[in-house]
Amino acid sequence: MQAELFRVLYVSRNRIAGGLDSLSSEIADILATSRAHNEREGITGALIFNSGFFAQVLEGPRSAVEAVFEAIQQDGRHSDVQVLLASPIAVRAFPNWAMAHVGQSPRHQHALAWLQTETGFHAGHLVGERLYTIVMEMAHAQETDDVA
Ligand SMILES: Cc1cc2nc3c(=O)[nH]c(=O)nc-3n(C[C@H](O)[C@H](O)[C@H](O)COP(=O)(O)O)c2cc1C
Repeated sequence: MQAELFRVLYVSRNRIAGGLDSLSSEIADILATSRAHNEREGITGALIFNSGFFAQVLEGPRSAVEAVFEAIQQDGRHSDVQVLLASPIAVRAFPNWAMAHVGQSPRHQHALAWLQTETGFHAGHLVGERLYTIVMEMAHAQETDDVA
C-alpha cells in the first residue's frame, strides 16, 4: 500500500537580515538543501518569498512532510509560521518539483505584496485558499514560461 499523501501550506515572516545579497544567498542555500533532501524523501512543493514573508507548499508521504516541517519550523531564517492548509491529498500539485521557486515576476510580486497587506499575517482559512490559488497559478505560469 502506498503511504498517504499529505500537503501543508504555510506562511511565515522572513527574518533574513542584511540586504538583497544575503537574501539571495540564503534563498539559494534553502533551495539547494531542500532539493537534495526533498528528492530523497519524496517531497515536492513550491516556495515563494518577498522581503517580508515566505509561503511554502510541501507535499509527499505524510511522515516525511511532517518531519521536514518540524525542521523548517526551527529555522531561524523565518518566524511566525502559520499553517494555512494541512490535509491528505489524492494527487500532487507539483509532481515535478523537489522545490520550485515561484513568484519572481513583477506581476506575482505585486500579488504577494497585496496579499501581505491584506492579511497582516492574521491568516484565516479564506486567505489560505486564496494564497493556495495564487501559488498554483504562479507554479503553472512558471512551468509554461519555463523560467525555473
Ligand atoms: C522558508 C524555508 C523553507 C525551507 N524548506 C525546506 C524544504 O522544503 N526542505 C528541506 O529539507 N529544508 C527546508 N528548509 C531548510 C530547513 O529549515 C533546514 O535548514 C534543513 O532541513 C537542514 O536542516 P539540518 O541543518 O538540521 O540538516 C527551509 C527553510 C526555510 C527558512
